Amino acid sequence: MNGKIMPKELIIIAYISEALASIRYRIFSEKAEDEGFRGFSRLFRALSHSEYIHTKNHLMRVGGSRGIQKLVTFSEVFLGNTGENVESALRVEEFEYYEMYPAFIEVARVHGDKLAELSFRWTLEVEKVHVDLLRSAKDYIERGCDWPSSSFWICKYCGNIAINVKGIARCPVCGSAIDSYYEIS
Ligand SMILES: [Fe+2]
Ligand SMILES: [Fe+2]
Repeated sequence: MNGKIMPKELIIIAYISEALASIRYRIFSEKAEDEGFRGFSRLFRALSHSEYIHTKNHLMRVGGSRGIQKLVTFSEVFLGNTGENVESALRVEEFEYYEMYPAFIEVARVHGDKLAELSFRWTLEVEKVHVDLLRSAKDYIERGCDWPSSSFWICKYCGNIAINVKGIARCPVCGSAIDSYYEIS
């Protein structure tokens, strides 16, 4: 290994980071519900599903790795009120989008690990969607508003989140047919 970080190690870091995000967003969703924000509760539920799919995709790429992993993860261990939770989520998503996944993609590319690179690329594109949703969420909460009630659709292959799937034939991230999307109620 020569002390070099390998794509498989990054896949494991990504797997753990996404798994923690999925659980954290589920908790943020419950917190928003408790505070009477039904819209933010639904938004965090959609984000949790999306991160779950990233977790699953990364785990499938880990394949036959066994044993206990001792690796750092990129995650915030945090629970506040819904406004603070939105800000925490946005910080992590921006880090993943601007720093973590671009670096991971580069390592996978240099090592010629096409499957790891694809998993990172899909996730990067969806993290951009998460960043945009959370920037809007921050605007709403700063104006004292709940997230406007709208449904969310999730791609079961790449975790992409769409507000609306009418008139769309294929997932813009992974290219699968739009019937791979399921609705979050
Ligand atoms: Fe995300
Ligand atoms: Fe997709």
